[in-house]
Amino acid sequence: MPKILVTGGAGYIGSHTVYHLLRAGYDAVVVDDLSRGYRRNVEAARLREFDLRDTERLTRLCREEQFDAVVHFAAFIAVGESMQKPEMYFGNNVGGTLSLLEAMEAAGVRRLVFSSTAAVYGFPERIPIPEDHPYAPVSPYGESKLMVEKILGWLDRSSGVRSIALRYFNACGAEPGSGLGEEHDPETHLIPLLFRAMQTGQPVTIFGDDYDTPDGTCIRDYIHVSDLASAHILALDALIGGGKSDAMNVGTGAGHSVLEVLRAVERVTGSKVPCATGPRRQGDSSALVADSGKLRRTLGWAPRYLSLDEIVATAWEFEKNRGGKQ
Ligand code: UFG
Repeated sequence: MPKILVTGGAGYIGSHTVYHLLRAGYDAVVVDDLSRGYRRNVEAARLREFDLRDTERLTRLCREEQFDAVVHFAAFIAVGESMQKPEMYFGNNVGGTLSLLEAMEAAGVRRLVFSSTAAVYGFPERIPIPEDHPYAPVSPYGESKLMVEKILGWLDRSSGVRSIALRYFNACGAEPGSGLGEEHDPETHLIPLLFRAMQTGQPVTIFGDDYDTPDGTCIRDYIHVSDLASAHILALDALIGGGKSDAMNVGTGAGHSVLEVLRAVERVTGSKVPCATGPRRQGDSSALVADSGKLRRTLGWAPRYLSLDEIVATAWEFEKNRGGKQ
């Protein structure tokens, strides 16, 4: 049974990936400092609660556990916050990764699946976006992820570390029955904010309706979190099987506007979502849609959730059971 170190495994995508890893027959140990993740998302026996930048402790853990591979989620992810606190983002996202790579080197662990982002492309020149599209991040968050991808490129050449960077588009939804779902503090993501507006009656702000899109609102590629998790498992299988380093987009290839998502939430919940149009949010691209052909071709990945209503329904199921707990 391959043993995997999952950093950031108490967060939204990390906890879903651990859930699916265990069901796929892997063993997993989670390192998370719980600065953004939730204790309830991880079985106590699997959790090691500390900051990745504690290289000594991480090295000890890697030596003791003899991991076959690492899946590295632990990072700060809020684009807006990264504009306010770039030092914190580079320190945690790049500094934490360097510490992890040092510990892996010391313990002889040489396979890594890295949680990257569509934010490495910035404002795309074309849609859908292929992996060889120019990189032009427009936030310290996107830049920090690109910096790590570049570091991994050098380590592939010089230290024999094999890695697959998965560039996520808009993660959403929840695995039914898992008790896991999307929750951030503060919440900045569209679908949870639409639920909140519906529940509180406080209108959600639509960030701009004057984009060059059919209804004027931004288009995104909403990918179900369990489909993201399955991409990680395929990437791990490939690396453990001797596969080479790569970077791959993970998205459905379908774009939905903010208003389309709002309508989907109304259909699924049967309630109105109060909304108001506000100004554009700094750093938002009009459209981000993935070309995930490489992931499909090389790893045989295919998303199971293709309907926006079905994705929203899984998110709503989680939200209802959460009962407004923050
Ligand atoms: N939006 C609103 N109102 C809100 C919140 C969001 O109109 O209150 C809009 C945004 O303008 C955007 C869409 O809803 O068009 C989705 O916004 P999110 O904040 O949910 O997600 P982003 O597309 O901004 O960002 C997500 C991840 C990032 C990642 C990026 C890559 O959160 O970590 O996708 O595409 F970098």
